[in-house]
Amino acid sequence: MNPNTPWPDLSGIAYGGDYNPEQWPRAVWREDVALMREAGVNLVSVGIFSWALIETSEGIFDFSWLDDVLDLLHESGIAVDLGTPTASPPAWFFAAHPEARVITRDGTVMGFGSRGMASHSSTAYRDAIVRVASALAERYASHPAVVLWHVHNEYGVPVGEDYSPQSVAAFRVWLEKRYGDLEGLNRAWGTAFWGQHYTDWAHVGAPAAAPSVVNPAQRLDFARFTDHQLRECFIAERDAIRLHATQPVTTNFMANQSWGTDLWAWAPELDIVSDDHYLWAADENGEVGLAMAADLTRSVGKGAPWILMEHSTSAVNWQPRNIAKRPGEMARNSFSHLARGADAILFFQWRASRAGAEKFHSAMLPHGGTRSRVWKEVVDLGAKLGMLEELRGSRVTADVAILWDFESFWAQDLEWRPSVDVQHQERIRTYYERLWRDGITIDFALPGHDLSDYKLVVAPAQYLLSEADAANLTRYVAGGGTLLVSFFSGIVDENDRVHDGGYAAPLQEALGLRVSEFLPLREGVRSELDWHGDGGTAGRLSADVWQEDIEVTRADTVASYLDGPARGGAAITRNAHGAGFAWYVSTRLDVAELRTVMSRVYTDAGIPTSALPEEMEVVTRHGSEHDYVVAINHGVAPAWLSITGTELLSDAEVDGTLELAGGSVAVIRTAPSREGGGAPRS
Ligand code: GLA
Repeated sequence: MNPNTPWPDLSGIAYGGDYNPEQWPRAVWREDVALMREAGVNLVSVGIFSWALIETSEGIFDFSWLDDVLDLLHESGIAVDLGTPTASPPAWFFAAHPEARVITRDGTVMGFGSRGMASHSSTAYRDAIVRVASALAERYASHPAVVLWHVHNEYGVPVGEDYSPQSVAAFRVWLEKRYGDLEGLNRAWGTAFWGQHYTDWAHVGAPAAAPSVVNPAQRLDFARFTDHQLRECFIAERDAIRLHATQPVTTNFMANQSWGTDLWAWAPELDIVSDDHYLWAADENGEVGLAMAADLTRSVGKGAPWILMEHSTSAVNWQPRNIAKRPGEMARNSFSHLARGADAILFFQWRASRAGAEKFHSAMLPHGGTRSRVWKEVVDLGAKLGMLEELRGSRVTADVAILWDFESFWAQDLEWRPSVDVQHQERIRTYYERLWRDGITIDFALPGHDLSDYKLVVAPAQYLLSEADAANLTRYVAGGGTLLVSFFSGIVDENDRVHDGGYAAPLQEALGLRVSEFLPLREGVRSELDWHGDGGTAGRLSADVWQEDIEVTRADTVASYLDGPARGGAAITRNAHGAGFAWYVSTRLDVAELRTVMSRVYTDAGIPTSALPEEMEVVTRHGSEHDYVVAINHGVAPAWLSITGTELLSDAEVDGTLELAGGSVAVIRTAPSREGGGAPRS
């Protein structure tokens, strides 16, 4: 992130969404801008899928309609986030460059009639994206409406990996750079196994579908390569824009809904981080997943204000059952993003489409028009955000970090693991949810980061862990930190090779134990743990999926297995190491069962917990003069918050206690706290 690049030149919290006027006759545009003003919209994203209407054939541009749209928006005081349309190349492009089509792992050549970029390694595609991005930047760099550049759309979605010949050739070049010579590659990939030894670079390919499982190190490198190629495409467009324009440049991430891009590597390439977030209808606690995505977005951006580039006013249209948001839910979602550092609340999309694949997706202006509930809530939300300009630039801090490592996920997600029931996303979400319900604000981090400012670091799923990163975690504990490591962590190195010394070997010193054998459980089998506890908290815990045979070398056993293959053995341990503590949880506990364990861990870490109901989400943003406490009651019953200050949405003074009705939100300006981060304690 470039710290000198200003936030888009806008007043207030940004509010608006994707605007696709090319889908509508011009008469509708005037109505659009009038209604945008009514709703308090001050920023719209334009042109994201407009390539075919801007470059009508190779090198021939027609900017007339876009000129008119930008002028109209500017006259109406609405700023523009101008898209480069490179996620949707025109029909003429694929007709001229059939070799640029993406080929999937099983050899299918992707057709036209949808969207999705061409091969990230195609020279024709790379030339074309630079041409169209340059043409747009040259034309609109000084257009007064344009305050931000929106490169592409959701890199890696719907296609990331490409198995076309040009991609395979580029993969070889990337591998030669990484390993220097074939011997280096043979060693890293462990090609002595199954007779895969290579004697010629020309024989090295992409990990296309094969008779059985393909070399996991090869697949992991292909994931790294894919991420690298996508990022190169972004950088090429960004640099083309920067040659002409000075406005900040972003691209929209899908923080926790797509794994193909390593956002830790991407974020420093952007001027401002943006995220798209959609609720999973099947997730009954969608607000927790939402908070997790928001915290991850803020974390990859090093805490700087970020843009919620897309979310939905109500239902989406691409899930099996698309559940409409209930009254007030859109506002609660928006305030949750705002609470976690977003200074822009935008939607997909402004006006619901009549034609095309997304016509049943909700919008700010739905098919039901201005008489609809959604529209009324959109206008109400715009008015509320309009009262919160002073929150801009204030920041969220946290005492707890959860490790989130895309490379580790890529490795763990490959085939032939000990149990299909072990899923990194599930473990992270479960630990996150426990902390969320305990009212604790969370950052995400990589195991190699400087973690010393955190009181607690949780590693729910760090399957891949380099020796160097393990040493960093061990130092963190020795220096006084509290670390919690969940099972199936510290298993392999950067090349998916089991660590010398066995499972979790690089963490042995910190954890004070050795893991001798994995003991996965059959589907649906539960096991009981005897929680030895202390201070009268002894009792039983219920777990499933996994046990382990643990050889305790130094740690204290805090819970042991009462049944199952590890019966009598250690299940949960705590090790005093240097000035800190390292906990190890060798089985799967759900959110409720984790309560006992985590409350003991919080004590070690010196983290107070909230006495508020679990449905209350309370996050503090720290400004230069004030703190801003954003409180959201996701429950139906009223809740009471101990706080003194001014509630900004009602402009009411709060002296000691604020009542929040079920489903409501409040934003309270308070005196700055010294502590920083976390929820206020009642
Ligand atoms: C993604 C895309 C948008 C739209 C929405 C629908 O986030 O970026 O163009 O398709 O999904 O939910």
